[in-house]
Amino acid sequence: MGSLCLSLTLCLVLLIPTPSSAYQTLNQGSSLSVENPDDVILSPQATFTAGFYPVGNNAYAFAIWFSESTCFLGHSCTLVWMANRDHPVNGRHSKLLLKETGDLVLTDAAQFDVWTTGTAAKSKLTTYLQLAESGNLFLRDSEGTILWQSFDSPTDTLLPQQPLSRFTQIVSSRGKGNYSSGFYSLFFDNDNVLRLLFDGHETSSDYWPYPWLSSWDAGRSKYNSTRQAMINSLGNFNSSDGLSFRSADYGPSRIQRRLTLDYDGNLRVYSRGERNEAWVVSWQAISQRCRIHGVCGENSLCSHAPNTGRTCSCIPGYKQKNTTDWSYGCEPEFNGLPNATDFTFIHLRHVEFFGDDFRLFPNKTVKECEAECLQRVNCKGFQHNFRDHNGFQFHDCYPKAQLRNGQQTSGFQGDFYIKVPKSYNISNKKTEHLQGTLDCPQSNTIQLDRSFAKTHQSDIVKFMLWFACALGGLEFISIFFIWLFFYRASQDKNADKEGYVFAATGFKRFTFDELKKATRNFHKEIGRGGGGTVYKGMLSDGRVIAVKRLNDSNQGEAEFLAEVNTIGKLNHMNLIEMWGFCAEKKHRLLVYEYMEHGSLADVLSSTSNELDWQRKYDIALGTARGLAYLHDECLEWVLHCDVKPQNILLDTAYNPKVSDFGLSKLLDRSKLYNSSFSRIRGTRGYMAPEWVLNQPITSKVDVYSYGIVVLEMVTGQSSIKGIQFVNRTDEVEMENRPGSHINEREEASKSIESWMGEMVEPMWEGSHGKQKMDILVRVALDCVQELDCVQEDRDARPTMSQVVERLLDSSQ
Ligand SMILES: *[C@@H]1O[C@H](CO)[C@@H](O)[C@H](O)[C@H]1NC(C)=O
Ligand SMILES: *[C@@H]1O[C@H](CO)[C@@H](O)[C@H](O)[C@H]1NC(C)=O
Ligand SMILES: *[C@@H]1O[C@H](CO)[C@@H](O)[C@H](O)[C@H]1NC(C)=O
Ligand SMILES: *[C@@H]1O[C@H](CO)[C@@H](O)[C@H](O)[C@H]1NC(C)=O
Ligand SMILES: *[C@@H]1O[C@H](CO)[C@@H](O)[C@H](O)[C@H]1NC(C)=O
Ligand SMILES: *[C@@H]1O[C@H](CO)[C@@H](O)[C@H](O)[C@H]1NC(C)=O
Ligand SMILES: *[C@@H]1O[C@H](CO)[C@@H](O)[C@H](O)[C@H]1NC(C)=O
Repeated sequence: MGSLCLSLTLCLVLLIPTPSSAYQTLNQGSSLSVENPDDVILSPQATFTAGFYPVGNNAYAFAIWFSESTCFLGHSCTLVWMANRDHPVNGRHSKLLLKETGDLVLTDAAQFDVWTTGTAAKSKLTTYLQLAESGNLFLRDSEGTILWQSFDSPTDTLLPQQPLSRFTQIVSSRGKGNYSSGFYSLFFDNDNVLRLLFDGHETSSDYWPYPWLSSWDAGRSKYNSTRQAMINSLGNFNSSDGLSFRSADYGPSRIQRRLTLDYDGNLRVYSRGERNEAWVVSWQAISQRCRIHGVCGENSLCSHAPNTGRTCSCIPGYKQKNTTDWSYGCEPEFNGLPNATDFTFIHLRHVEFFGDDFRLFPNKTVKECEAECLQRVNCKGFQHNFRDHNGFQFHDCYPKAQLRNGQQTSGFQGDFYIKVPKSYNISNKKTEHLQGTLDCPQSNTIQLDRSFAKTHQSDIVKFMLWFACALGGLEFISIFFIWLFFYRASQDKNADKEGYVFAATGFKRFTFDELKKATRNFHKEIGRGGGGTVYKGMLSDGRVIAVKRLNDSNQGEAEFLAEVNTIGKLNHMNLIEMWGFCAEKKHRLLVYEYMEHGSLADVLSSTSNELDWQRKYDIALGTARGLAYLHDECLEWVLHCDVKPQNILLDTAYNPKVSDFGLSKLLDRSKLYNSSFSRIRGTRGYMAPEWVLNQPITSKVDVYSYGIVVLEMVTGQSSIKGIQFVNRTDEVEMENRPGSHINEREEASKSIESWMGEMVEPMWEGSHGKQKMDILVRVALDCVQELDCVQEDRDARPTMSQVVERLLDSSQ
């Protein structure tokens, strides 16, 4: 028995990786792995955490963040530093290694180094990596000499006591949820003045201190070349150029603070009293957000909107260049630049464009200024500003070569005149031009496509590993059988009790260890999606399961249980069945039945042609039934919000089962109409235009995605690769032209006929299937119609129940 115990222990040691808890110090020769969420370094009082942070699907950066209970597995954390913001590493095999040489390196997928501190052989002594309570990650040797520190290479945030110097700058991130380097930076300029700079696609310009003020007028001095700035722990910021301010909550207390250059170009101090409270802005550099350069790109106007912050709009005669990104600005709707006499001017009140003047012409009337502009081929318009000079009142004229940094503010005393060709008929354009809020487009996460290679191990190492595993495996198996023999009998009573719990609640609460065992330590990955990773496993009673390990778990246990309870209530033959869940510490897992044929996406992409027309029709019908149940038939209204082939699973008989529902927010009907659904969900290519257009989100978003899926199934072409006429989500015209809707539909249905001829007929020619596919395509096309802002048009798409009816009617 003793030897059995010994080998059991040995075996456990060999086979089960010891759960490593967070580090205080990373020693020479050790490393942190991206695959182990526990591989983090904590500051002495755990205020800060350093570790791998997900910045995209399967993309990670090594970062430092404020530890807080609402932030684990890398979500909704407040990041303060990143090592590799522009070169994220793979979610497999990547690690941060403190080499024996004293060099700290970050390797991507065990292949190449993306980042290093360059401290190899800087010290002959042993080196350590530690995280200070101030948030400074530093590499020191055993005598205490600092070899490298993160405070010397800030990203977009300065912490109290972290100096900004002549060698450093902070750079904003690219957008909401996108941490790569953005357009804005804070740094000491060559004249020793601390400035904010916009460095965009085509231009760069300073915008703070305001460029029309001399540095003296802005309260800055050019004559102190120390170039040092810092916010102290009381909330006082001092800079060597004379800039000095205090945060609104200045004073000695336990308040946490950070100075961050946000992706919108504003520099802000954020504070909070307690660890888990929300951050509040306690100081900001620019109160009129339209004064920040590059907000809306060229040829567009920024205006302040009380509810949404700021909005962009194109000036008359221009249209938005890139519907998903305002920083590209607007381009002319007219082409070419005809001769001088062929132009006219459009007058805009209280509008200002900053910079890019040909020159200043003082004291000019509008007519005189028009003439100046007409003389210059490249003149795009002119600013006409009122000026009161020693009692003399007159206007200044500024013809412009480019129209950048435009803003419309009621307080501005000046007008702008835009040059457009006479042939351009302005009256058939709406005067209230295109508007869009700024913050939505960036918030969808884009999948980072990053391949990774297997680790390069020498053959000898491989062989030894194999040998060890085989030996361990043998030992394990023999011990397992012995254990089974002794243990089984004592378990039977417990099993009954569990069965009772299962029957009463419909599903079971698993322990993390149970699921770890069932999936052999999350060994076989069968899917990976927005919400988490799916693993195959087997329960002790022999049922095969799919375990979804959620990574978006910034919710508390009670909230999670409430949601799981709701999902558990949704039982329908076309919805995947949930067998249980696990909520233990930070782990959130869902246990589902396992589907033999995988997802519709797998089947569609396989070459074996498993789906004939009848199966396709049945899959479309079953999926519609599942979604209709979600939308209408059960007690609570559930929007799926991520309908795509990856989320439609097929059982042995190819019956479709919709999965991943309920991971989206569960909504009750009353909330549906006030578009409180702020976070964009879904997958590109399947997403309804409403998400992009910021329109209210209703069950019709799922109808749209469903339509795309059906089209993809019929044609066998992925929507992302481009079914031209339906996948217009990315280029939706936001202008609300009456009648356009109908024209587009006619146009679309025309191309459908020809397209049906090309795509569908050759495949199903002469068969009964052709007619069926025809019906599918027609239903699907009705599903992918764009909704108009006009309320009556909201019902253009059928409901899922109507889809079911139409498909049933036609299947007689
Ligand atoms: C910051 O500047 C203010 C005013 O110039 C000065 O009173 C204060 O002592 C300075 N604080 C520090 C920490 O240098
Ligand atoms: C220059 O700035 C530094 C840092 O703020 C300060 O310590 C120093 O006194 C300043 N020098 C002069 C001449 O004002
Ligand atoms: C618009 O901008 C996005 C993001 O920068 C880019 O991915 C997309 O290709 C652009 N679209 C067009 C039409 O230029
Ligand atoms: C502009 O004027 C020139 C000379 O008068 C003429 O040759 C040219 O065709 C005109 N261009 C346009 C676009 O009208
Ligand atoms: C502005 O121009 C008008 C005529 O062009 C002239 O009479 C007037 O004195 C000028 N005003 C100033 C302030 O130069
Ligand atoms: C401009 O458009 C309006 C409305 O579409 C039309 O009534 C008018 O005749 C057009 N003018 C010119 C010069 O084409
Ligand atoms: C962030 O933005 C950059 C530049 O537009 C882009 O290349 C990158 O893919 C984006 N990353 C994510 C995660 O969206």
